[in-house]
Amino acid sequence: MPDDMIVTTDDLLAMLDTFLADRQGQWWDTLFSRRNTPIPFFVEKPDENLVQMFASGALRSGKTLELGCGHGRNARYFADQDCEIDAVDFSRVAIEWATEFAPLNSHKINYIHDSIYNLILKAATYDIVYDSGCFHHQAPHRRGSYLDLVATVIKPGGSFVLVCFSPEGGGGLTDRQIYEKPWLGSGIGYSEEQLSKIFLPKFVINECRRMRETGQAEPVFGKAFLWVSR
Ligand SMILES: C[S@@+](CC[C@H](N)C(=O)[O-])C[C@H]1O[C@@H](n2cnc3c(N)ncnc32)[C@H](O)[C@@H]1O
Repeated sequence: MPDDMIVTTDDLLAMLDTFLADRQGQWWDTLFSRRNTPIPFFVEKPDENLVQMFASGALRSGKTLELGCGHGRNARYFADQDCEIDAVDFSRVAIEWATEFAPLNSHKINYIHDSIYNLILKAATYDIVYDSGCFHHQAPHRRGSYLDLVATVIKPGGSFVLVCFSPEGGGGLTDRQIYEKPWLGSGIGYSEEQLSKIFLPKFVINECRRMRETGQAEPVFGKAFLWVSR
């Protein structure tokens, strides 16, 4: 049987992965190794919505999973709120950067260096699943895997918070163009309608708003080209 013969859905997903194979952990390693470049999220500030959600009581301390945690700026905020947190990222360099902060404080963060699709997690484990900027870098054919992952690991009544590109934030490619190139561009921008189409079959959307654009002097991160959805 030829190696690339497709029999199962997993075979199909694995083959499609190879079309966009350049956007794996190594691509992110290169980005995270340039710490001095002005990448907006290379800051030591939590998302503005995260601070606002804890302040308003929309989020409460609990067992938390962060998908695509990068250098851990939001994971550290969850830990500060007494959350027990598993923070996953497939960039080795990002995780190494994140762990550099550990000796400076007493945060208990369980960093996991792996793809979110390799996680073997028990169902209904987390009170909160948080994603700031990971979903919009997932290939279109992985949306179903992503949804299944979040829907499985979250406890009934738990909170899934997504921060992702609006159309102005993304690279403007359609799903078809992504595979024709093949290239994910700078990430996928979603309209509010598209987010509803993806997430409403499995989740209730209580809130979908623009992130508040924050000033440089503020202690929180915010860019108006991002959606905040909960
Ligand atoms: C735009 S960055 C955001 C980082 C961090 N959440 C922040 O806001 O500072 C996206 C992150 O998702 C990670 N990522 C993307 N796809 C992933 C996957 N399939 N599994 C694990 N991490 C992934 C990247 O390595 C990167 O750190």
